[in-house]
Amino acid sequence: ANPVVAIVGATGAVGVELLESLAARDFPLSGLKLLASARSAGKTMRFRDQELTVETLTEDSFEGVDLALFSAGSGISKRYAAAAVKAGAVVVDNSSAFRMDADVPLVVPEVNAAAIARHRGIIANPNCVAIIATVPLAPLREKLNLKRVTAATYQAASGAGAAAMEELRASTEAYLKGEAFEPKVLPHPYAFNLFSHNAEMDEENGYNGEELKVIQETRRILDMPALPIGITCIRVPVLRAHAIALTLEFDAPVTPEEVRAILAEAPGVKLVDDRARNHFPMPSEASGQGDVLAGRIRTDLGDPSGRSIALFVAGDQLLKGAALNAVQIAEKLLQR
Ligand code: A2P
Repeated sequence: ANPVVAIVGATGAVGVELLESLAARDFPLSGLKLLASARSAGKTMRFRDQELTVETLTEDSFEGVDLALFSAGSGISKRYAAAAVKAGAVVVDNSSAFRMDADVPLVVPEVNAAAIARHRGIIANPNCVAIIATVPLAPLREKLNLKRVTAATYQAASGAGAAAMEELRASTEAYLKGEAFEPKVLPHPYAFNLFSHNAEMDEENGYNGEELKVIQETRRILDMPALPIGITCIRVPVLRAHAIALTLEFDAPVTPEEVRAILAEAPGVKLVDDRARNHFPMPSEASGQGDVLAGRIRTDLGDPSGRSIALFVAGDQLLKGAALNAVQIAEKLLQR
């Protein structure tokens, strides 16, 4: 029989996209339970042609549930994932709660779907930047010997949740009207501005939590535990798609044509690399689609040896960076 699915955090920015992705991909389910905080209990949400009522999440919410998609923050995952597993559900967790646990697979289906087999009740959905970066990195790593990654991110509001997206809208409106706006969700003014990612800062090494997650998780997904990665994570006033400037060093000279040919065939990647029209990956075009856009593929002139390639990628943070990747993991689970 088809599984009964629960969405924890159904009313959130990712939760809404989980419903969308399940519907868009015709996910074979026999029941859908929507869970959120008591604030949302009784609200209704549309799924296919049904109106479903949101229920308050409790330890008892998972009776009869086969698959639980968690996206309500790591505190909720730590508190309730065990109850879901105990009730017999497999958990696909979008939070950072379990991503580095040795017995929890950290999965991007195009990259390491085989790792799903090792799960013991919980599978972790990686950080959005780690997903969007590893989709193009994996096929390059497969064919070429990857030695080093340097990245700078341009991250959308959606990664900080629905309230941050609303803050971007409201603060932009206020700015255009010349009105004062006091940020509540994010630490700095967002309209016509950008700032260092709002994850907590490690005062010893000067990296923030987002940067450290991307480093650790990218290594784990690619199964390259010693891969040197340098990264700067920045929030930009974009609603829902992240972009990343990547510089990749290989162990031998490589041409942009080789890289372009590999990415043209890569699952989950769409080349957007039109030099004549200055048309390259943009958040506006990445938004709403499942593929990671890749382009601006060129020799990195910062490395005179010819072994380094620069490129620019963009992916929908809410879809491939979160909800779609979780649903793709669930599809792989069903196939097994
Ligand atoms: P709610 O809408 O009832 O607050 P986002 O990432 O967009 O901020 O969304 C967070 C999601 O997590 C929302 O669906 C939110 O529900 C849910 N959530 C937050 N706190 C709790 C909680 N204590 N119990 C269950 N769900 C929660």
